[in-house]
Amino acid sequence: MAETIVPVPAQWAATAHVDAAAYARLHAQSLADPQAFWAREAGIIDWIRPPSVADASNFNADGFGISWFADGQLNVAANCLDRHLATRANQPAIIWEGDDPGDSRVLSYADLHALTCRIANVLKAQGVRPGDRVILYLPMIPEAAAAMLACARIGAIHAVVFGGFSPEALAGRIQDCGAKIVITADEGLRAGKHVPLKANVDQALEHCPDVAHVLVVRRTGGAVAMQAGRDLYLDELLPRVAATCPPEVMEAESPLFILYTSGSTGKPKGVLHTSGGYLVWAAMTHHYVFDHRPGEVYWCTADIGWVTGHSYGVYGPLANGATSLMFEGVPSHPDHGRFWQIVEKWRVATLYSAPTAIRALMREGEDWVKAHDLSSLRLLGSVGEPINPEAWDWYHRFVGGRRCPIVDTWWQTENGGALITPLPGATALKPGSASLPMFGVEPVLVDGEGRILDGAAQGNLCLARSWPGQMRGIWGEPARFFDAYFSTFPGLYFTGDGCRRDEDGYHWITGRVDDVINVSGHRMGSAEVESALVAHPLVAEAAVVGVAHDLKGQGIYAYVILNAGEEASEALRRELIAWVRREIGPIATPDAIHFAPGLPKTRSGKIMRRILRKIAENDTASLGDTSTLADPTVVEALIDTRPVPA
Ligand code: PRX
Repeated sequence: MAETIVPVPAQWAATAHVDAAAYARLHAQSLADPQAFWAREAGIIDWIRPPSVADASNFNADGFGISWFADGQLNVAANCLDRHLATRANQPAIIWEGDDPGDSRVLSYADLHALTCRIANVLKAQGVRPGDRVILYLPMIPEAAAAMLACARIGAIHAVVFGGFSPEALAGRIQDCGAKIVITADEGLRAGKHVPLKANVDQALEHCPDVAHVLVVRRTGGAVAMQAGRDLYLDELLPRVAATCPPEVMEAESPLFILYTSGSTGKPKGVLHTSGGYLVWAAMTHHYVFDHRPGEVYWCTADIGWVTGHSYGVYGPLANGATSLMFEGVPSHPDHGRFWQIVEKWRVATLYSAPTAIRALMREGEDWVKAHDLSSLRLLGSVGEPINPEAWDWYHRFVGGRRCPIVDTWWQTENGGALITPLPGATALKPGSASLPMFGVEPVLVDGEGRILDGAAQGNLCLARSWPGQMRGIWGEPARFFDAYFSTFPGLYFTGDGCRRDEDGYHWITGRVDDVINVSGHRMGSAEVESALVAHPLVAEAAVVGVAHDLKGQGIYAYVILNAGEEASEALRRELIAWVRREIGPIATPDAIHFAPGLPKTRSGKIMRRILRKIAENDTASLGDTSTLADPTVVEALIDTRPVPA
């Protein structure tokens, strides 16, 4: 089949920040003379003391460490707020669209600055000092962005926990980072339903005796339990403190935030990002990838609980003086036209969303799209998983009216911002391909033995050098950082993704090559779901794999072995699904529970997940070699017990 190539529209080539020739020149320069390149690009943000060095990173066991702009000083919040006050104090910084279409707020840069300063002063009054960790467990409301910026302003480290995570998952993260303060809301609001955030915090804190204070944003006004001496309503404290707060002078390598993400093994990793390099990367990529023009309405649909919400909902756009739209609700409420109604209402120019959302909207048909005026759109983006060509085409045709380029941005929580992505004025698009590396990024493909593959090839995607937005470590587990990312292929950062590079040098991500499952563009470690399942009193053992899912990209398929004497039943199946939701959160909801008589294991006891994936996909004709199994008969038994799809 002939490959589709969508050329750069002439208008884009003529007016974008970067055209094809400039991309080639800048990318070559960024690799040939990184010190000079980064000395220049670092100027996209304001430094209190400009750095005299750029990259001082080393991926090898000997001298390992990641460091950028080390002697620079800055304040991230001042970059996102104060520096805009002279020129755009009254320009909207955040347009907030509530869950209910009748509910919205517009915060100018001056408003957001004042709110941030007040929250910062409240935090200070509660004893928060530079380097302290603050947990944010909030809905998509402006206070969430302001709380992040307030932490940055006073040098505290925020750890945002997605509001969909369970009390257990929240408790684990609070304990891991040793936070003494939590900012939450009484309740969240999604599709008209109340999400009991404060009640979840209360449950979590039963296991977190070190948390001294909970600040509660009044979102719905719903009745919640307030523990005297510990819990305080934020709106009662804000008027009592000053609306200005001097930004703390921070070192480039001071921690900015921790964000937990699933790995292939063990508990979630606290991915640590620092200040200078992260902000340069978020701002620079936001500028080039979205060809951003200050004042334009820019909408990243990701929740601030994920890295996309951090880099492209808050830090990148606000550093660049954008108007960032924040949506509290879901695409299907009150009806399937909600996204398009929002684009029309606020004249959105850039829409950055995820394949899972696009597929869900595509399923409802294009009439929802056609009912709205989307002529304000000039650019579309996608992130989180490979976008299938059908969804790409629908997005391009019906949402973008064939005139808007689609930037399919490949990156990870660990990366801080987009690493492989088209630039809209420079890159001809191939639907389904994240295309070419961003400036300073040097992707390489290696085979299983770590040999670098040249030309058109398929292999493990690695990065051969550091970039400013790279994570700096795993909170509390320094040795795990090197082991997890740099030990598989010495001298390289291993992404965990497989990738094909075609004859034009375009990258096609083929998905994870480890035991991480990509559910709706979010990472779920099979080990996490397995440990939730085995925590159930009737479960002896569990193994979890990803299976193709029409909407979510991948679904969760769980093999469960019950304790001797226990009977499988429909009631137990439901109970186990509810159990996992309660233990981790709805994002981890298993799509299938397979009550299994045993698991395919090698003689050394290693589970052969390859076989489990095949059986889960009902692809039993090509199971491959099963002769190394300790008990080959288990395979037939598994095929016989496959659950009938619901
Ligand atoms: O497998 C890749 C996939 O999502 C993983 C990173 O997940 P997370 O850290 O949760 O961050 C998601 C948002 C940045 C990657 O290892 N992934 C992300 N974007 C793409 C993608 N796969 C293909 N194409 C993409 N554009």
